[in-house]
Amino acid sequence: MSLEAEIRRLKEERRAVILAHNYQRPEVQDLADFVGDSLYLSRKAVEDDRPRIVFAGVRFMAETAKILNPHKTVLLPDLKAGCGLADSITAEQLRTWKGEHPDAVVVAYINTSAEVKAESDYCCTSSNAVKIVSQIPADREILFLPDMFLGDYVRRRTGRTMHVWAGDCPVHAKMRPERIDQARAEHPGSPIVAHPECGCTTGTLDKVDRVLSTDGMLRYAEETRAPEVLVATEVGILHRMHRLNPTTRFLPLEAGAICPYMKETDLADIRDSLALDRFAIEVPPTTAERARRSLERMIAA
Ligand code: 13P
Ligand code: SF4
Repeated sequence: MSLEAEIRRLKEERRAVILAHNYQRPEVQDLADFVGDSLYLSRKAVEDDRPRIVFAGVRFMAETAKILNPHKTVLLPDLKAGCGLADSITAEQLRTWKGEHPDAVVVAYINTSAEVKAESDYCCTSSNAVKIVSQIPADREILFLPDMFLGDYVRRRTGRTMHVWAGDCPVHAKMRPERIDQARAEHPGSPIVAHPECGCTTGTLDKVDRVLSTDGMLRYAEETRAPEVLVATEVGILHRMHRLNPTTRFLPLEAGAICPYMKETDLADIRDSLALDRFAIEVPPTTAERARRSLERMIAA
């Protein structure tokens, strides 16, 4: 029996749903029940009624699914699937920062640990960060964390004064404005779409054509009639872009933009995860309860 067939059989037997992020390996995306960005997958984790979730993504995504579904078993197939951006702030650092701004509203990007979410008022994803910040009363001070490029983008789009944590994603931060200039010269007339975590979104929004979450990029891929589009995010997204629109050439802005954490999970890990119920993610109930408030605001927005 092929690995794919074994996974399908185990998935039925175990009554599991497989969720995969847009940056996962192509063969993992092809086998998943749902593929999408962080917001879409969080919503699917709640809507789907199967008792077991296999999360082909990174740890903060599986933790989020567990917090939102305390009675389901949430499995992360490979424990090495962390996130460099989520590691850029600890709950202790956030408590100190809050101590310096006691009246501030804390907005945490979903790429954070459960402990950091528990210290936050709102969570957001790249899909709804602008919307969430816009809804906060204008007279409130805001602490935004942990991504400085997304924070700067949200600040510009909303016109709000925000304190922004100086964290970044090691994959996206490398995409600098100079690279955009070079790509423009090499591919004149080709639109450039960029994820808001990119270094090239800071102060140079006019340099790219669209700033989009990963699902936003997929919708763009379906609609565009451009012969060629440059894509500034992790290269895993290109798999579905090509599928959704085989007539446009989708090229990575940086071919080396590969998230090592997102590539940890392979089909054998998913098979073992289903067969052995591993690795079950647990979040202490008091942390989960506090983190749930900010996540529910994110889901509702
Ligand atoms: P999206 O929510 O846009 O999928 O981004 C998640 C992520 O980890 C980006 O690096
Ligand atoms: Fe984290 Fe960056 Fe990888 Fe996204 S691409 S999971 S932000 S390290």
